[in-house]
Amino acid sequence: MSSKLAIYPGSFDPVTNGHIDIIVRGLKIFDRIVVGILNNPEKNPLFTVTERKAMLEASLKSFTNVEVDTFDGLLVDYALQRGAQAILRGMRAVSDFEYEFQMALMNRRLNREIQTVFLMTGLRWIFTSSSIIKEAARFGGNINGMVPKVVNRQLQRKFAALDPSS
Ligand code: PNS
Repeated sequence: MSSKLAIYPGSFDPVTNGHIDIIVRGLKIFDRIVVGILNNPEKNPLFTVTERKAMLEASLKSFTNVEVDTFDGLLVDYALQRGAQAILRGMRAVSDFEYEFQMALMNRRLNREIQTVFLMTGLRWIFTSSSIIKEAARFGGNINGMVPKVVNRQLQRKFAALDPSS
């Protein structure tokens, strides 16, 4: 049987424990996962692609069958180039559905060979997102246990550097 590869794409600005949960679940189905960070400066990210990649690599270093990479352009082109059979996406609440459905249908229209597979996130991560975690961290909220330790440290460092009063 051929080895099954999935691309797990996203902004990962920064990676959260919800993302890690999806990767762990994904590894029960796929032999290998490539985490694809979209290099999209238009999104005005907090972390550079290099910083995001380093945080993902540090958080996933115990997984030998997970690779972290970056991509530009169309996701389906990248998936094809990497030889992936599927795009892996996490689904939290119903609020994710419309955006995810739209993206999956567009990707299918662009390339019918690549399947989108949705995995339901663990209940404890259902309310987390990179954006809401960044907002909490920006104002000094406790985000312990919501992100890998390396990410927590980088968030504190980033916001301290951005705050001229500190
Ligand atoms: O973590 P995000 O921001 O929800 O991830 C969105 C992402 C990166 C998966 C999506 O924006 C994407 O695939 N962009 C690449 C461009 C593309 O292929 N667009 C057409 C399909 S919608």
